[in-house]
Amino acid sequence: MPPTALITGASQGSGKATALLFAQKGYDLVLAARQLDRLEAVAAQVEAMGQSALAVSADVGEAPQVENLVQQALERFGQIDVLINNAGICLTGSMLETTPADWQQIMNTNFWGYVQTIQALLPQFLQRHSGSIVNVGSLGGKMPLPQMTAYCASKYAVTGLTDTLRLELSSQGIHVGAVHPGLINSDFLERAQFRGADRQRLASALKAGWVSQPADIAQAIWEVVDQRRSEIVVGPAAIATEAYRLLPAPMQWLLSRAGS
Ligand SMILES: NC(=O)c1ccc[n+]([C@@H]2O[C@H](COP(=O)([O-])OP(=O)(O)OC[C@H]3O[C@@H](n4cnc5c(N)ncnc54)[C@H](OP(=O)(O)O)[C@@H]3O)[C@@H](O)[C@H]2O)c1
Repeated sequence: MPPTALITGASQGSGKATALLFAQKGYDLVLAARQLDRLEAVAAQVEAMGQSALAVSADVGEAPQVENLVQQALERFGQIDVLINNAGICLTGSMLETTPADWQQIMNTNFWGYVQTIQALLPQFLQRHSGSIVNVGSLGGKMPLPQMTAYCASKYAVTGLTDTLRLELSSQGIHVGAVHPGLINSDFLERAQFRGADRQRLASALKAGWVSQPADIAQAIWEVVDQRRSEIVVGPAAIATEAYRLLPAPMQWLLSRAGS
């Protein structure tokens, strides 16, 4: 039986690239996102590569939908070996420009979505004393970014979840890892909600040569699983997070000027 991976946010961007890379490595796949037609197109690509794929429409922020996703996955494949939490949304704007509803929506997808898939799959991982969980975080989960308080709060929560869950599960044979991208050349920012912040400035950043491609994130996710690594910060984001770790005060000063 081939190994299996469940990927959230698999209909486009990094999640789709990860699905195709894992199919190439011989994995069968469970693909989740809200828009089923896009997922089915990815599933067809996976099947054309000779692997099996199950596409399930699920909003990761809705616990009953996540339970249904995991139930369908286990019915189809018997077990899941790798969980890749990747579904995420972006929101920019200052504290006063963002509403409580904005905060709830971003935490629901970016944080609770991850908690809910883990809670639904973990009993099966614990039973077998094996399995790998990879959470896609962000540069914004390792250092503050101007005008992105809600997004960074959701991704710092993912960092705390990942690092602490690793402590809890390492003695049980379960691997927990993280991939932290910087800017990715995907539709993520196109789909982002801007509350008073400058869409144009972010859009023009995407043209910079140092922006990662979805395939770079897929490769980092593969390495985290294959080598049971704790964390990869992708591309030039690694330089920024290291600078912040070593020199937090000067970096805070620089970042606060960039946001004003
Ligand atoms: N792009 C960047 O610059 C960047 C930088 C750092 C970190 N990241 C992180 O990388 C991950 C992937 O980003 P990406 O660039 O590939 O984004 P993307 O192209 O916008 O893809 C996001 C995926 O998540 C799914 N999704 C969104 N909300 C969902 C929900 N409530 N339930 C289920 N699925 C949902 C989307 O499908 P549906 O809309 O059909 O549900 C889509 O498949 C995210 O966690 C993001 O925070 C991105």
